[in-house]
Formats: sequence, C-alpha cells, structure tokens
Amino acid sequence: MIVKTLSTFASWHVGLLTLAYGQNAVSWDLGAGFELTGSVRGLQIKDEQQEIWTATLPFVSASAGNDSVVGSSGSLDITKVDDHTCTGQSITSLQNVAWEGSTTRSAVQVSGLLQGCGDYETSYALTFWVPDDLQDRVAFYLDIAGSADTANPLKKLYFRYHSYENEDFYGLGAQASFASLKNQSIPIFSREQGVGRGDGPVTSYGNENGSFSGGNRFTTYTAIPSYISTDGKVVYLSEKSTALAYFDFTDPNAVSIRYDSLSVDGMFMRANNMFDAVEMLTAYTGRMPKLPKWVDSGAILGIQGGQSKVRSIVEEGLSLGCPIAGVWLQDWCGTHSQEGPYINISRLWWNWENDEALYPTWPDFVQDLRDSYNVRTLSYINTFLANVSTKPDGFRRNLYKEASALQYFVQNTTTNSTAIISSGPGLEAGIIDLTNDGLRSWFAEVITTNVWGANISGFMTDFGEYTPVTSDTRLANTVSDAFFFHNQYPTLWAQYQREIVEELELQGEAVLFHRSAAMSSNRYMNLFWAGDQNVDFGVHDGVKSAVTIMAHMGLSGYSQSHSDVGGYYDVLTYEGFNVTRSAELLGRWGEMAAVSSSVFRSHEGNIPSVNAQFYSNSSTYEYYAHNARMFASLAPYRRMILDTECALKGWPLLRHPVMYHTNDVRARQVCYQSFYLGPKLYVAPVLDPQTFELSVYLPGDNTYTHVWTGHIYSGGQDVTVPTPYGKPAVFLVGSASDVPELKTFLDFVKQENMTRALVE
Ligand SMILES: *[C@@H]1O[C@H](CO)[C@@H](O)[C@H](O)[C@H]1NC(C)=O
Ligand SMILES: *[C@@H]1O[C@H](CO)[C@@H](O)[C@H](O)[C@H]1NC(C)=O
Ligand SMILES: *[C@@H]1O[C@H](CO)[C@@H](O)[C@H](O)[C@H]1NC(C)=O
Ligand SMILES: *[C@@H]1O[C@H](CO)[C@@H](O)[C@H](O)[C@H]1NC(C)=O
Ligand SMILES: *[C@@H]1O[C@H](CO)[C@@H](O)[C@H](O)[C@H]1NC(C)=O
Ligand SMILES: *[C@@H]1O[C@H](CO)[C@@H](O)[C@H](O)[C@H]1NC(C)=O
Ligand SMILES: *[C@@H]1O[C@H](CO)[C@@H](O)[C@H](O)[C@H]1NC(C)=O
Ligand SMILES: *[C@@H]1O[C@H](CO)[C@@H](O)[C@H](O)[C@H]1NC(C)=O
Ligand SMILES: *[C@@H]1O[C@H](CO)[C@@H](O)[C@H](O)[C@H]1NC(C)=O
Ligand SMILES: *[C@@H]1O[C@H](CO)[C@@H](O)[C@H](O)[C@H]1NC(C)=O
Ligand SMILES: *[C@@H]1O[C@H](CO)[C@@H](O)[C@H](O)[C@H]1NC(C)=O
Repeated sequence: MIVKTLSTFASWHVGLLTLAYGQNAVSWDLGAGFELTGSVRGLQIKDEQQEIWTATLPFVSASAGNDSVVGSSGSLDITKVDDHTCTGQSITSLQNVAWEGSTTRSAVQVSGLLQGCGDYETSYALTFWVPDDLQDRVAFYLDIAGSADTANPLKKLYFRYHSYENEDFYGLGAQASFASLKNQSIPIFSREQGVGRGDGPVTSYGNENGSFSGGNRFTTYTAIPSYISTDGKVVYLSEKSTALAYFDFTDPNAVSIRYDSLSVDGMFMRANNMFDAVEMLTAYTGRMPKLPKWVDSGAILGIQGGQSKVRSIVEEGLSLGCPIAGVWLQDWCGTHSQEGPYINISRLWWNWENDEALYPTWPDFVQDLRDSYNVRTLSYINTFLANVSTKPDGFRRNLYKEASALQYFVQNTTTNSTAIISSGPGLEAGIIDLTNDGLRSWFAEVITTNVWGANISGFMTDFGEYTPVTSDTRLANTVSDAFFFHNQYPTLWAQYQREIVEELELQGEAVLFHRSAAMSSNRYMNLFWAGDQNVDFGVHDGVKSAVTIMAHMGLSGYSQSHSDVGGYYDVLTYEGFNVTRSAELLGRWGEMAAVSSSVFRSHEGNIPSVNAQFYSNSSTYEYYAHNARMFASLAPYRRMILDTECALKGWPLLRHPVMYHTNDVRARQVCYQSFYLGPKLYVAPVLDPQTFELSVYLPGDNTYTHVWTGHIYSGGQDVTVPTPYGKPAVFLVGSASDVPELKTFLDFVKQENMTRALVE
C-alpha cells in the first residue's frame, strides 16, 4: 500500500481556498488513462484529453434527522430534514488501496474528517477506481462513518462537484416539467406522479385537506439516478444505490447529490457528445429488449366493455381503413363501481383471471380476434391483488385470500398482517412481495396459467411505486430497510415479468409496458409508457408533459416509449371545473403519437362516458384512423432505427433537440415544442387547442423540408407553418432521397395531403 500524504491537507480548511489549483498537487494513475490529481484545493480527474470531474473543498458533508415521507396510495410527499449539517471538511490522506473489480486491482482512496456536525466530527473515505468491465469511466464509493452523537445520528450524505453556468442537464427519468434540469433540485423517488402536478385548479384540488394526490412538478413514477450534461458528462448512482436521492442543480457552479444513507457509489464519465453519452450510460444499465414487429403495423385500440363491444369497434375500424395491430382490454379481469362526483368511476378487479360477464369465452375470443382480423390482444396486470370476495358476478380463485394466507404480501408488523393499500373506496389490496421466493413461484404460476394462458401478446404492467417506507414494513428477504428498498421495486417488477416472458419464449411476441422504473429497469422492459396524464393540453400533466417525459426518458436510456393516446385522468368536481377529453385533444394526441412513439395505443380514460372516444362517431374514428395510418406509414423508418441505433447503442427514437444541437441555447430550452424522430425527421406536434398554424424553431444549419407543403427552410430561424387537423409540423432533415425507409411515409403525405374536417 502506497500512502502519499500532503502535510498541508491535515490542517487545511475552507479559508485557504484561494490557493492555486495544482499547488502541492499529487497525481495518481487510476488506470486506463485516467488520472486523479489531489491538491490543497480539492480533486480532479482527467482522461488523456480532458477533465472528467472536479471537486473543490468542501465537497462532502452529512446531516442528521430523518426525512419525512407522508401520504397514502403512492401519493407520497417528502420533506427534507437536515439537522447538525457538517460545516467543514478536511483531507488527511490520499492512498492506494487494494480494490476488487478495479482494472488495476487497486483504487485511490481520499480520507479525511467532516467537522462541525453539531458538536461532533466524523471521518469519511472517498474511493476512486476504473472498473474492470467498463474502462471508459471512473467509479466512486463514498462512505461516511457514523457520528458519536447517538442522539442525532448522521443519516444523509452530500457530495458536491463542479459545474458552471452553461452546463445543462437532462435525464433523471420521467421528468415532466422542465427542459434542462439546471436550476432545479430533482428528487429521485418512485411514487404517483399526481393529478395536475402544478397545472390548473386540479392540482390544488388534489392537494387539499392533507392529500398529495395532485403532486407537484417533481413527482414521477420513476427513480432513475442518471443524467447527461451538455458537456457529454454522464453521472449515475449504481443499481444498488436506491435510497432517496436529490440531484441539486440550483447552484450554477456545482452539482450536489444529497443521498439518504451514509454510503453511496456511482460513476463519472465524459463522452464526446450526447449520443455517445447515451451509449456509455446504457453500456451500464443495459438496453431495452426489442419490440416485436407486429406493433409497427397500426393502432392498439384501448377499449373496455366486453366481447361484443370490442368486436364491433374492431370491425368498424377496419371498414374505415384504420390499421389495427391490436386491442388493449384492461377490463378483462372485470370492473367495479366506485362512487365519485356525478358519476361512478369504474375500477378494475385486481384478481388476475378473466371476468366471466364481460369476457365469457376469453381464450377463444382472443384467438378469434387474431385469426379473424389479425388483431392481437393485450391485457392488464399490476403489483396488487384485491380481495374479490364481494365481486358480484363471482370469481374462480380469490388470489388475495390465497396470498394472504401464505403471507405473500408485503407485511405490516403493527397489525401483524398484510400491509393494505387503498385505491379508493372498496379497493383494498396487498402488494406482492417480490423478495419472497414462495410468492415468486406461486405468482409466476398464476401469470403463466391465468394471464398468458390465453393467446395474448402482452399487457400493461402497471404500478410498482407503492411499497411502504415506514419502519413497520416487513419484506421477506432483503437486507435493506423499507425506505431504502422502495426504489428497488420497479426494477424487481420489470425483471420478474421479463423472466416469465423468457421462460415462455415469448420475446418475439410480447409487449409489456411499464410506467415505474428505476436504475437499469430498461434492461427488462421493451416499452415504457409515460403514465397517467390528464385529458388536457397542460404543460405539467397534459399532452405536453407526455413529450417532455419521453425526451428525458430517452436521455435516461429508454429508447422505446409511448403514452396513452388521449390521456387518462378525468376529474369531475363540484367546485366549478371538470377535466374531460375533447375530440380535438384526442385527435392532436393521436397526431403526436403517430410521429413520436414506438407504439400507438389509446386509452378510454378513467371516466370513459365523459370523454370523446375514437369510436364516438365516424368523425372521431376517421381522425384516429388517419393518425393510425400516419403511424403505420412510418413503420419501415422506425423499425430501421429501433433495430440499429436503439438496439445497439441505446439511442432513443424520440430525441431531444439538444442531442443534435448541444451548444444551441434555444435548442437546450425546448421542452415539448419539438424533437427529432430518428435522425431524419424533425417534428413540432400541435399541443394547444385551436392552433392551425405553428411557429417552429429550426435549429442548426440543416435544411428542413416541411412535408405537407414541400417548403424548404434553412435552419437557424423560426418559421410558421400551417397545422390543420391531421398535419402536425413534420420536416425532413436534409435530403430524404437517401432514406428509402421514408418512402411509405412520403407516399402517405401525398395521398392524404388535403385539409379535412377531422373535428366537427
Ligand atoms: C429515525 O428513523 C429511525 C429508523 O431509521 C428510527 O429508529 C428513529 O426513531 C427515527 N428518529 C426520529 C427522531 O424519528
Ligand atoms: C438558470 O438560471 C439562470 C440564472 O437565472 C438563467 O440564466 C438560466 O437560463 C436558467 N437555466 C434554466 C435551464 O432554467
Ligand atoms: C376538503 O375539505 C372541505 C371541507 O370539508 C370539502 O368541502 C372539500 O370538498 C374537500 N376537498 C376535497 C378535494 O376532497
Ligand atoms: C355507484 O357506486 C356505489 C358504491 O360502489 C354503488 O352503491 C352504486 O350502486 C353505484 N351506482 C351506479 C349507478 O352504478
Ligand atoms: C375479504 O373480504 C371479506 C368481505 O369483506 C372478508 O370477510 C374477508 O375476511 C376478506 N379476506 C381477507 C383475506 O382479508
Ligand atoms: C403474528 O402472526 C403469527 C401467525 O399469524 C403469530 O405466530 C405471531 O405470534 C404474531 N405476532 C404478533 C407480534 O402478534
Ligand atoms: C400498518 O398499520 C397501521 C395501522 O393501520 C398503519 O398506521 C401503518 O401505516 C401500517 N403500516 C404499513 C407498512 O402498512
Ligand atoms: C397464437 O395464435 C397464433 C396465430 O393463430 C398461433 O400461431 C400460435 O400458435 C398461438 N399460440 C398459442 C400459444 O396458442
Ligand atoms: C362537470 O361535469 C358534470 C357531469 O357531467 C356536470 O354536471 C357539471 O355541470 C360539470 N361542471 C362544469 C363546471 O362544467
Ligand atoms: C363526434 O363526437 C365528438 C366527441 O364526443 C363530438 O365532439 C362531435 O361533435 C361528434 N361529431 C359528430 C359529427 O357527431
Ligand atoms: C400539399 O397541398 C398543398 C396545398 O394544396 C400544396 O401547396 C403542397 O404542394 C402539397 N404538398 C405535397 C407534398 O404534395
């Protein structure tokens, strides 16, 4: 073991920060061309060309106090608590230590003291190495010793490093409210994203009376601690680092990670551009498994209501020239009524078998849709089982009862029974405990027999955010406490379902779409779904946010995503406002999906009777069919990208403009206004009502050909283009003659280049 000690480090404190960087510097070879330099100012890591990571003292801190997480039904509100935050940091030594998994079998360890943690001090060790299996990056492990203050034990760590005013940040999962995340402090915690998230009166309505169901601009289903900056820097926490984290970008000159534990590990790296950055990120997380080809050919119709309704809507669509790839029948398991303002809301019975009233001949019905119309069927499951003993039309197995008896649910040690979650009146359920081996084999059998028993092609794989965080939570088999475990569940859920798909050898057929995700969940799901948006044009929770989410997910390693066409949440109130879906929103959402998403799937919404539906009348259905044809016409182009850039490099299909125009300030600020679909199409969807022309920013020095008019524009300007119904602003980037895969789309444009009264 080599120890290089700088005498100045031992007594060094913040007041000496003015010393020049490099004075008394010592350098360490980390291996694979990386070098760590330590000086009295701080630390810096470089590769052969450039700086990767720099930190100036103090860069480590800690605080006492338990963060408070309160709420119910997945709507969890976090209050940060920081007591006795350490006020100083010293470095006492840098040394080489033996290190498993390092390319040099050793690591460089920086140790020192944290001072002024209340009346106490403590020590820390920060270790850097180049991982043997990923030699283009530097791993770190920060470990803070507990303090001697047993009354106020340290609970959280802070880790801070350099940034500067013009470094912008993207990723961190399903972020729905911001373009660059600079100036924000982003929590990494899986929970309900909320109904409203800051939009309109609906948010404060949901957040009334101590509830947090409205959420805010930071609430999201995902807990993905990885970002990519405009400098090509990638930073992530490891898969095992699942505690609540905050990535704080509010200081223009620093990034600060606040983490709810005293040790954390992760990696730093720097790519030449944001594309290479995604490739580097997904070299660690893994890449999404392939989507089966059948999804390319048309719409997946979200319908509820039983066999005869489904059949007649499919037949009507085919007669209207709507390409139909499949139907998505979430009510296959039956529904029950929940009282709401004005109208009862229909909820699903979370007991995974077909409902004999709605779908009496389910397996035959599914097979017949396939054989008669070439239409696939998707169904629905989630992480819960509900007590169906009161289901009026009966059941064959009460899975809740079976699982309760076997203690297969997450347990509550206060009641010494199942930890119950409520999803409104009459819907009480247990959360399956995926750490329980017994549950895993029992539930796999249920899924294989009951769910995959019919010839379906996948399902919505809902939820994953609800594991309780309180200390009276008991899981069968984990070393983590419930709070720390919480963010592990989404990946366990995706991995578990993927294993069943592989066991059944259905990889070439199955589509499983999830909304919850954590680090590396992308390895196990072939489709991300943007979750439950409101049925409106809102920025934070309406159609616009679906685009923002897909863009940030793309920079988090999720190449394949989509949203509910038409949105999900209706809200009826006695307070003078409702949120219900217009035919116009449904049409515009369908246009957006057609030119942005890897799958085109609609949802009826949570109160179907108050919404415009694609099957409401021939006018809505024709608009939907037009959008489905537009989606299908892009199939060869999309498939080329999915099979190459997405599969091999993890690049997203929908690309935030910053990826191509990293130094363009305007491009960096785009939230939902425009994006690239692969390299050759630039899209500005219409996401506002009554908008028949759109001003679009065209970045860079490309030429842009507006497909509907043929006008050619040069980049670096704002242009205004007509956007009648059915014609989102789509531009060819550069020449299209070299992209034969776009021919079907350009043929569609020619054939359907008339302005039609798609909304009446
Ligand atoms: C903080 O949480 C720990 C469990 O992690 C618990 O033992 C302790 O009582 C809590 N402290 C306070 C002040 O609530
Ligand atoms: C962050 O704040 C600075 C200073 O107010 C501002 O110039 C910059 O545009 C902001 N960036 C973002 C992405 O909000
Ligand atoms: C909040 O409580 C008030 C008073 O009881 C009630 O009038 C209101 O409807 C409640 N709001 C919601 C969203 O439940
Ligand atoms: C509405 O729901 C309540 C509670 O489940 C139920 O008692 C009532 O019959 C339902 N009404 C209708 C019209 O379905
Ligand atoms: C299910 O609900 C019924 C009716 O409310 C109740 O009698 C039964 O105990 C419940 N089963 C379990 C396992 O909790
Ligand atoms: C919890 O229940 C189990 C079996 O149902 C029983 O053996 C055990 O004594 C109970 N523990 C407590 C603390 O009530
Ligand atoms: C356990 O049950 C008690 C009493 O109902 C409740 O206060 C607590 O939040 C529950 N905890 C969990 C983990 O479900
Ligand atoms: C599902 O249907 C397809 C098309 O008819 C058929 O080829 C396949 O064998 C069926 N699979 C099962 C498991 O029945
Ligand atoms: C909200 O919807 C209900 C049910 O359709 C209706 O009776 C009520 O008038 C609506 N409220 C507003 C403000 O439109
Ligand atoms: C079709 O249904 C939509 C949504 O309910 C409605 O807005 C529109 O007026 C209807 N059009 C016709 C021609 O009935
Ligand atoms: C589409 O129609 C418009 C208006 O009639 C016309 O100006 C334009 O050239 C047409 N575009 C294509 C690509 O055919």
